[in-house]
Amino acid sequence: MKNDIEKVVLSAKQIEGICKRLGEQISHDYEGKNPLFIGLLKGCEPFISDLLKFVSIYCQIEYMRVSSYEGTLSSGHIIIKSDITCDLTGRDVIVVDDIVDTGRTTLYIRELLKKRGAKSVAVCCLLDKPEGRLVDVDVEYIGDNIPKEFVVGYGLDYNERYRNLPYIGILKEEIYK
Ligand code: IMP
Ligand code: MG
Repeated sequence: MKNDIEKVVLSAKQIEGICKRLGEQISHDYEGKNPLFIGLLKGCEPFISDLLKFVSIYCQIEYMRVSSYEGTLSSGHIIIKSDITCDLTGRDVIVVDDIVDTGRTTLYIRELLKKRGAKSVAVCCLLDKPEGRLVDVDVEYIGDNIPKEFVVGYGLDYNERYRNLPYIGILKEEIYK
């Protein structure tokens, strides 16, 4: 599996530093608000688990399973494969995802949760690929920016593989070409 990686973009140590920084920032920003974290499966794991270790305030956690990707291409068609069942009325929601690329998933989920009555919706993602953006969308908490390359590991997959790599790396082109 490791031989399929061209270059490491974020080591396990760097990821831990990012989780600490974002977790502490969120704890500060949401003190007294009892935010509801909504992880977008499957890519939010293990990021959400590591992030929450550094969240020191009362909070709740729910998960949605959404999908938009086929292979290395964003289909642009977002499907909710498993939904939350809790009431969002008046809640401060923090959506946790692995990566924002075109921005379509983030925009769709933001608008959906607002429509369902959330008081506020913020997005926290480990990675951002600003060059990939096709729609304009706010992302409040970003771990790191990366160039427009296909990355895997730490929750990110290529055809369901590599999610279990403990770091993030660029996949060798020969693997998906
Ligand atoms: P968007 O709707 O195009 O912003 O895509 C967001 C989703 O696409 C993310 O939640 C990921 O699951 C997936 N994705 C985007 N870029 C990559 C990548 O480089 N590797 C693996 N998955 C990716
Ligand atoms: Mg995802």
